[in-house]
Amino acid sequence: MKHQTKNRVYSECFNIIEEEIRGKSFEERMALVCNVLKAKISYYFWVGFYIPKEEWLELGPSSGPPACARIAYTGVCGKCARSGKTIIVQNVHEFPGHIVCDPRSKSEIAVPVFDEKGDVVAVLDVDSDEYGSFDETDGEWLERIAKLLTLTNIE
Ligand code: SME
Repeated sequence: MKHQTKNRVYSECFNIIEEEIRGKSFEERMALVCNVLKAKISYYFWVGFYIPKEEWLELGPSSGPPACARIAYTGVCGKCARSGKTIIVQNVHEFPGHIVCDPRSKSEIAVPVFDEKGDVVAVLDVDSDEYGSFDETDGEWLERIAKLLTLTNIE
């Protein structure tokens, strides 16, 4: 998808999410983000959240085909949670440790969600069934959206 089109679509999603997130719990906000992004962005095959626990990451709200309920820290989401950095994978088959939840997934992006202390409280993960779907534009917008999830001053 062209840069310009991505920016238009993400900006539309951002505005909807920012508007509807008020008064919602963290769990409800995560579900809202999944629903809006999955409905609006054509190359999203799966979108969901993984919540870091001591020994694994646990599936939170998601939208798309069924996915792994629990994953090890060895994959894309684990790397994101451990490093606190956005991870963009053009070809999941070339990522050492990638965890397959659906064999149709070909590219992926994982974005950390931080609490006010700076700890990673969730990983926003998106899969595409095409190679090379995600770039810096996705990263920047998803990081902006991730910040809305833990905002406390928008009741
Ligand atoms: N591929 C991820 C697992 C989660 S799914 O893509 C839904 C990973 O390697 O952590």
